[in-house]
Amino acid sequence: MKKLIVAIAILTLIWACSNSEANNKGSEASSETAAANAPKEIDGEKIYRQNCVICHGLYGDMGASGAFNLTTSELTVEERIQVITNGRNAMTSFKALLNEEKIKAVAEYTLELKK
Ligand code: HEC
Repeated sequence: MKKLIVAIAILTLIWACSNSEANNKGSEASSETAAANAPKEIDGEKIYRQNCVICHGLYGDMGASGAFNLTTSELTVEERIQVITNGRNAMTSFKALLNEEKIKAVAEYTLELKK
């Protein structure tokens, strides 16, 4: 009988330990998802890669479909925001695809392409 109690005690201990480990993991996982759900900083480079590379190329100088060379563009951020928002000639308008903040972020990123 004593052996049984000891065995139960050990089992309880093991269970308690593994359980607390599981709990720790649980809280880690939930803090990870919280971080993933937190509003991320808008990444202009990522937006550029997703929306602009097809015409402007990775470095802004590809010029597909007559796309202007962004590495030599003299436009200000405001003018870029205008072109990106409303489009111009063969350049598509992005106002339906990107919100104001994203357009601003990608416009700022295109300035970085300038050599
Ligand atoms: C369908 C191809 C295409 C896509 C996609 C595209 N562009 Fe353009 N872009 C053009 C063309 C063509 C022009 C030249 C417009 C003109 O002739 O007036 C241009 C012009 C520009 C200009 C003006 C440059 C200058 O010096 O006048 C900027 C800034 C620009 N694009 C940024 C972007 C950004 C940022 C994106 C992604 C959000 C993007 N473009 C996506 C084709 C494209």
